Amino acid sequence: MDASEAHSAIVSPAGVWWRPAGKQEKLWVSIAFVWCMVLFAMMPLWHFKGGQNPSGVRSRVEPRDFIARVERFVNEYKIGEDNGVPVVAPPPGSDIYLLGQMWRWYPVLRLKEGVHYTLHLSSADINHGFSLFPVNLNFQVVPGYDYGLKIVPSRSGDFRIVCNEFCGINHHMMVGKVVVE
Ligand code: CUA
Repeated sequence: MDASEAHSAIVSPAGVWWRPAGKQEKLWVSIAFVWCMVLFAMMPLWHFKGGQNPSGVRSRVEPRDFIARVERFVNEYKIGEDNGVPVVAPPPGSDIYLLGQMWRWYPVLRLKEGVHYTLHLSSADINHGFSLFPVNLNFQVVPGYDYGLKIVPSRSGDFRIVCNEFCGINHHMMVGKVVVE
């Protein structure tokens, strides 16, 4: 039997794919590799130059400690209620707290335009996604971690916080509110 007809593991089958790669193939493999390297280099470059990474400070926190901290914050600066959720107006420059839980954002924040705050985000139960609408601003809200973000509300208005991480049956109902005046 001639080797070109054999199809077993003992006799190599006839074919072309182990011949040296053609010129064009080598060229495209090289281009793809160089492009991979460019994209890879852009990750650290964008981290430092792109200004797209938030100035957040992450630290560990027990969910029940965070909930207690949010409650203290609410009791201190509560000015009213909105559909049963407390509305909180914290003083400029202060630490403000927002809790994600199945299925609401707690409390409603009333902030001042052009003023510094440190926004602490965390979850009481599972992962939620903080998405400020209509501003395209997104953060993961993770139980066990306090994400402290330095923020300055840059425009006034009535904003919604949408949950963009699937968190169960009422995920779509998880809408919060931030008012900037
Ligand atoms: Cu919270 Cu989806």
